[in-house]
Parts: sequence; C-alpha cells; structure tokens
Amino acid sequence: MQQLQHRKLQKELMDGGITKVVPEGIHKITVIYEYVKDSFPHLCDDDYLCSQCCTCGTNQPEWKHRVRTALGSLKGKGDVEKDGLDRGWWRITINSTIIPTANELLILDATAGSRSIWHKNHKNNPNVLFLDQRIEVKGEGSQGVMMPRKDPDGVPIPSQPGWECKPDILGDFTYLPQFDDETFNHIVWDPPHVKKKGTGFITMKYGYLGHDWQENLAKGFRELWRLLKTNGTLVFKWAENDIPKSVIEKLFRSEAGEPIDYCYGTQTKKSIGKAQCCSNCGDEIRGTWWLMYYKFPNYRD
Ligand SMILES: C[S@@+](CC[C@H](N)C(=O)[O-])C[C@H]1O[C@@H](n2cnc3c(N)ncnc32)[C@H](O)[C@@H]1O
Repeated sequence: MQQLQHRKLQKELMDGGITKVVPEGIHKITVIYEYVKDSFPHLCDDDYLCSQCCTCGTNQPEWKHRVRTALGSLKGKGDVEKDGLDRGWWRITINSTIIPTANELLILDATAGSRSIWHKNHKNNPNVLFLDQRIEVKGEGSQGVMMPRKDPDGVPIPSQPGWECKPDILGDFTYLPQFDDETFNHIVWDPPHVKKKGTGFITMKYGYLGHDWQENLAKGFRELWRLLKTNGTLVFKWAENDIPKSVIEKLFRSEAGEPIDYCYGTQTKKSIGKAQCCSNCGDEIRGTWWLMYYKFPNYRD
C-alpha cells in the first residue's frame, strides 16, 4: 500500500507536478522536500523507510528517494537542471527566470524581505534585483500569507495580514551560481539576526538563523563578495539581539580566505525597548549596526 503511495508521488512529480509545487530557482534538495511535502502530505509518509522496500535502502523516508528519482528522470528535459551546480542543489526553470539585462543589474538586495528598508520610490527600481529565499504573498482581504505555509525547517509560519515577501527571484545567498563574479556595483545584505525561532513578531517577519548560523553567514559573505564588482560597496545590517557584531565580523573572508574588514559603520540607539509593532510579543529591539564594506582593487583573489 505504502509502496503504491510512493509510486504515485513519483508519477505526480514526473507528470508536471514538480514545477507546480516547487517555484523556479536554485534550491537545496531539503527545501524541495518541504515544498513537495506541503503539497502532497498524504503521499509523504516519514515512517516508511527506504530500507523497508529495497535491499540496498537507507534509513531515509522512501518518499524522499522518490523525489530524487523524479528529479533525476526529469533532468535535462526542460524544467529541471543540475549542470554546473554543487551536489544536493537543483535548478527548476519552468518559464525561465526573468533576470534584467546585465547593464540593468546594478544593485542586489540579497535578503529583500518586504523591502521595508527601501525608500518608497525605489521599492520597484528596475536597477535593483530583489532576492530572497522565500515567497509569501498577501492573502485576499485580511487572509494573510498564503504560501509557503511552512518555513524550511517545517515550522508553520503564522499568517501576516497585509505583509508580503515578493522577491524578483528566489535564491539562497550562500550559493548563487547563476551570477558571474563581479556582477553588482552594490549589495545590501540584511540577514536574519536571531538564532532560534521564537513566537514573536521578529522571527515571524524576518526569519531566524538556525544552528549552522556561523557557516551560513561565512558562506553568505564569501558568495556576495564574489558577486561584488571591484570598487563596489556592500552594506551589511546587523542587530545584536543574539550575537555581537565582534563575533560576526570575524566570519567575513574573501574566496581566497583573506579577512575582510568594514571601512566604517555605526550603531543605532542601544535599545529602544520592546518591539513597537505590537503590544504583547515582548521582542526586544537592540541597536542595529550598518557596516560599509568597500571592495578595493587589492582585495582581488
Ligand atoms: C531581516 S529580513 C530582511 C528584511 C528586509 N531588508 C526588509 O527591508 O524588509 C531577512 C530576510 O532574509 C531572508 N533569508 C534568510 N536566509 C536567506 C538565505 N539563505 N538566502 C536568501 N534570503 C534569506 C529571509 O527570508 C528574510 O526575508
């Protein structure tokens, strides 16, 4: 019976299902699993393991094996690609992502969120490429967020009426192979700054770092530094809720391993008390750092 379910899942995905449930972009396989499970929960039984139906099987749920098999069969046939990507990453192309022509790509916002830091006249500036790892579209009326209903760790995201995260492209700032070295004149990077998921407004709206925060932030800086043109600038925004700036700044290195220091920066007020957004979440907002990194010619790898 469970065997049949997993065969059905594979068939659904291969008959066009994969592009209906996974948005276009370059995704880690773990993120693809989440999208698939969200859409076909009845076909994704975590208790039925690969080793129960296959002599050389693993202790991973069989449905994940079926997702990988479907991706492997679809590879190179139009919607699914793997060429040039690291192990465990897949490119879903659907209608081919619309990326502005090279000379329009001046600025990258690598963590666009709701674009709240942008001046109203620049929220849709065609010279800026807004990237984020998630899409959350406004519901009708006061319905709030429609998708994704879960974050990458499978934790449900509460609805956020009137708020949306609608990047130009989906992407992960730790791995952006679709862009050449030295593509952007300026990069804005405002990653989540709390380690653990909480129930308050801050983690709901801005995300959280997770247990591998050091590796993710180090990889993120390295990748964004690669995309920055020589003589370009990167602005990094950091709030010290959980981790002091002094710890974070040591993580930042070029691809060649050279430490990169910001040129100048400043911190907003030390504490403005409880979050202003609502009266009861209790999240504390501490001083936010804005740091400016300049890619001098002698930083070239
Ligand atoms: C602090 S919020 C950014 C807020 C944004 N600057 C604004 O003005 O609304 C952090 C954002 O980073 C995104 N994010 C977290 N990890 C990411 C990753 N690996 N790649 C791309 N975006 C990521 C989250 O989805 C979230 O929208």
